[in-house]
Amino acid sequence: MAPTSTTTIFLILGNIWFWTLFFSNTCKATSPAPKFPAILVFGDSTVDTGNNNYLKTLFKGNHYPYGLDFPGHVPTGRFSNGKLIPDFLASMLNIKESIPPFLDPSLSDNNLVTGVSFASGGSGFDDITGVVGGIVPFSKQIEHFKRYIVRVQGIVGEKEAKKLISSALVIISAGTNDFGFNIYDMPTRRFEFNISGYQDFLQNKLHLFIEELYELGCRTMAIAGLPPIGCLPIQITAKFKTSHDRRCIEEENLDALVYNKKLARVLPKIQSLLPRSKIVYADVYEPLNEMINNPLKFGFVETKRGCCGTGFVEVGPFCNALTPVCGNVLEYLFWDSIHPSQAAYQHLSIYLEEKVIPKLLNDGNQSHTRFDQTG
Ligand SMILES: *[C@@H]1O[C@H](CO)[C@@H](O)[C@H](O)[C@H]1NC(C)=O
Ligand SMILES: *[C@@H]1O[C@H](CO)[C@@H](O)[C@H](O)[C@H]1NC(C)=O
Repeated sequence: MAPTSTTTIFLILGNIWFWTLFFSNTCKATSPAPKFPAILVFGDSTVDTGNNNYLKTLFKGNHYPYGLDFPGHVPTGRFSNGKLIPDFLASMLNIKESIPPFLDPSLSDNNLVTGVSFASGGSGFDDITGVVGGIVPFSKQIEHFKRYIVRVQGIVGEKEAKKLISSALVIISAGTNDFGFNIYDMPTRRFEFNISGYQDFLQNKLHLFIEELYELGCRTMAIAGLPPIGCLPIQITAKFKTSHDRRCIEEENLDALVYNKKLARVLPKIQSLLPRSKIVYADVYEPLNEMINNPLKFGFVETKRGCCGTGFVEVGPFCNALTPVCGNVLEYLFWDSIHPSQAAYQHLSIYLEEKVIPKLLNDGNQSHTRFDQTG
């Protein structure tokens, strides 16, 4: 397979990224009660905790060596060797130790009401992203959320369900697949848009999703920006033929920075249009860039390839039980050719806890004071 078509397949997949996430923490030693009763997650493989397991798609992470470092060493469908940001945040927030996928048919009532992920690896804000891969596009994730609300109403009643949704922390993480798939590797959207136009198109879509979630009762949302896409091992592989030349693709990183800048500017405007909402930008670019530029500070030795296989291309079905893995995954920023390792996700979570959670809480009297909040 030529690198480019390989890349395309992988990007469909995953979406990878990190965008992921957010933050939240909130439970200082002195205040053990969770600030948020639940976490609700929408997005791509950076925050898909196993929904793709239940779909007819190739894009799954429910086989070894995925999950190697997850509690119990089980592959769960998470596209990493262990936990993802929503899991770390749920734990930091004193909610629970991990966020289950909504499509898991065996969820307990308690696990449902404390939050689930609707995310699907390979998806994006643009509904054409990943659609050939059989994943759950954003629009359908919202349909699943509507079903979720009905189930929660059945468990706690309509009034409590409304309170729960309005005080839940919503995390949205997507966008990398839209660029990776539709612009860089198989430029289907390039015929319609230049980069700037496509960024605006995606952010208009995002705006509509935020409004839909607001209409459904959500009030507190953290929206992840793009990571340095040009530093993803798979993107580097598509661009540079020899391993000697491997380096981040500056143009792609610049596009991501511009997208992030626009996003950080537009979210406060959206917030101001939606009364009593808190809609915050979550930067993942800077912390990842810092890990790439100062790896040793974080214990990383390798930042240009994943731990699985050669680290240049393997991801999803190509990172499997027959693929050798690196000796010490703690030294790797990337687990596979697209997704960060658990160690990187943990550093990101700590960053978000410090930088983003406070913004979600800083007018705490208004937005999320948990169950006692009216409305
Ligand atoms: C991108 O396209 C829009 C119209 O769709 C145009 O206004 C803008 O100047 C273009 N930007 C660049 C950098 O070509
Ligand atoms: C929140 O309200 C409490 C009193 O109810 C007040 O003491 C506190 O300063 C308020 N905090 C903010 C950030 O407005």
